[in-house]
Formats: sequence, structure tokens, C-alpha cells
Amino acid sequence: MNLKFDRISLGHFPTPIEYLQNITKHLNGPKIYIKRDDCTGLGTGGNKTRKLEFLMPDAIKNKADLIVTVGAIQSNHTRQTAAACAVLGLKCLIVLEQRLADAPNAYMTSGNVFLDKLFGAEIIFCPNKKDVKEYAEEIMIERKNKGANPYYIPVGGSNHIGELGYVECMREIIQYDKDNLFTHIVLATGSGGTHSGTVVGKTYFKSNVKIVGISVKDEKNIQEEKVFKLAQSACKYIKCEPPQREDVLVFDGYVGSGYGVPTEGMKEAVKLMATKEGILLDPVYSGKCFNGLQDLILKKYFKDTDKLLFIHTGGAASLHAYEWAF
Ligand SMILES: Cc1ncc(COP(=O)(O)O)c(C=O)c1O
Repeated sequence: MNLKFDRISLGHFPTPIEYLQNITKHLNGPKIYIKRDDCTGLGTGGNKTRKLEFLMPDAIKNKADLIVTVGAIQSNHTRQTAAACAVLGLKCLIVLEQRLADAPNAYMTSGNVFLDKLFGAEIIFCPNKKDVKEYAEEIMIERKNKGANPYYIPVGGSNHIGELGYVECMREIIQYDKDNLFTHIVLATGSGGTHSGTVVGKTYFKSNVKIVGISVKDEKNIQEEKVFKLAQSACKYIKCEPPQREDVLVFDGYVGSGYGVPTEGMKEAVKLMATKEGILLDPVYSGKCFNGLQDLILKKYFKDTDKLLFIHTGGAASLHAYEWAF
């Protein structure tokens, strides 16, 4: 069943699936399992490792000697890209954009930014008035003029190639779940590739599981359209039937006042997972996502007989940069 596309091994796969016994008991609803994509291994792990296993071979095929990517200051994507470049002996240039107003010093220097540097990446901060993608393009032209051959990885590694990582993740889940245990998969959705790859995998491997995306930034319609378009582009690339529009479902009630801005619900979710299961969620993605999962249980969106698989997409490397929020 392996997808026949170039892939470089960068992480530990398949990631474990575990039963969250204490939280399930505490919430007194459906059984909750966790897919440990926070344990993919590369540069402290996370969902981007899967995408990079497909993106990096494309960069190498294009004879790139410089990987350029973009993200928020505390981007987990840029940190894992920097680690992938380190292991493959490629230069990495990261353009970071400020999305958090009045960010404390720790946010600007600790967590992922510190690790980006430790993995040897060059960091450039995008001026506030500039669009980060356009700014990265300008820098790439400059570097090309100086003789480099840059390869651009879009925000979050979300394109028709990066998504393949989550089509593969779906294969892992289906191989594990031979008895169709899971009724729902719940995941954080941002740049959209994790969500769209999972939806494409559901269609590709003919699964009936329902995929629930919890938005960390955009409102429902915008996020669903973004994910659906990405899914269509991946299906065109791998030549498979596209999913139905209704296969893409997003809840947008857990973002709070904006991307990366802490919410009370996120903090409770992070603390609950830490104190009940000894697992670290993150403040920007998995924490808000688990807050959504909890709230949907409370609101009886799920039946008590359902079995949920929460995909832990990683991100705990940013916790120290967010200590002030707790
Ligand atoms: C920890 C974590 N979870 C979830 C996501 C969302 O994944 P995607 O950008 O593919 O929607 C990200 C993206 O940066 C992330 O870092």
C-alpha cells in the first residue's frame, strides 16, 4: 500500500497509538486514543517530519543547495525543516513573521527560535509591513543572483507533496485499526496539509472514519475551502478520486482572539493532558485542538459509544516560550 513517491526516512514510524485511560475516565464520555505524532523523532518531533520525508527528496531532485521556508516566530515547521536540513547537509534559511502583538522576550528568543538556530539555520525576521511569502521570494532572488539554488517550502509544508505525509499517516492508522475501532479522528488544522492529507488518505484507503479539524487560525468556511483545495491538488498529483466536500469538517470556536494567542481553554487542556497522562501538548495547536475535543464531548457532539483518535501533532518545543501564559 506504500505510496510510490520519493521518500527519505527522517523520523520514527509508525508512531504509537495509545489509549488515554485517565482522561477518558475523567471526561466520562467516548474512549479517547492518541496517535503520538509528537514522537516522530526529528528535532523533537511533530507532524512536519512526515511532510518533510516527501518534500526533501523533491528539493534534492531539483538539486537545491538552500532550503527556504517561512513561519510564525514559534513555528514548529521551521524547526523541523532546520533539523531535516542539518541531517541532509543542506543550508536552511528561515523567514519568520510576527503574528503575536506585544510578544514577550521569551517568545522571540526561546523555544523553537532557539532550536532553529541550534540546528544551524539562518534566520531573517520579516519586516512587519511585508508579506512573508513575497519577502522570502525577494530573498530567494538575491540568493540566486549570488549563485545559490534555493528550494521553497511553503508555510507548514502544506502543498500537494507535503500532504503525502498524512496520506501515509492514514495508512498507518488503518493498518492499526483493522477492526474499525475509531469513529472519529480529531486534529489541529492550520496551514491545512495535515488535515487535507488525512482526508485524502481516508478516500484513498476507503475508510469510513469521520475527520474533525479544529481550527487554530481561520474561520470555518475559509479553513474548509483551504483544506478541500489542498486535498484536490494532492489527488491530482497521486491520481486518485478526490474526497467529497462534506468530508472536510472544521470547528472554529477554539481559536480565541487569534493565532498563537493563549486561551483559558487551551491552558486547561495542556494542564489536563500533563497532569492526567504525563503528555505535553502545545499552546498554539494541539492544546487548542484538545480543548475543542473536550468541549465537543461536553456538548454531546460525540456519542459515548464512539471511539476517538486524537492526532497529537507535536509542538511542545514552544512551551518554554509560552511560560508567561501559564
Ligand atoms: C504542532 C502542530 N500541530 C498542528 C499543526 C497544523 O498542521 P497544518 O499546518 O498542516 O495544518 C502545526 C503546523 O504548524 C503544528 O506545528
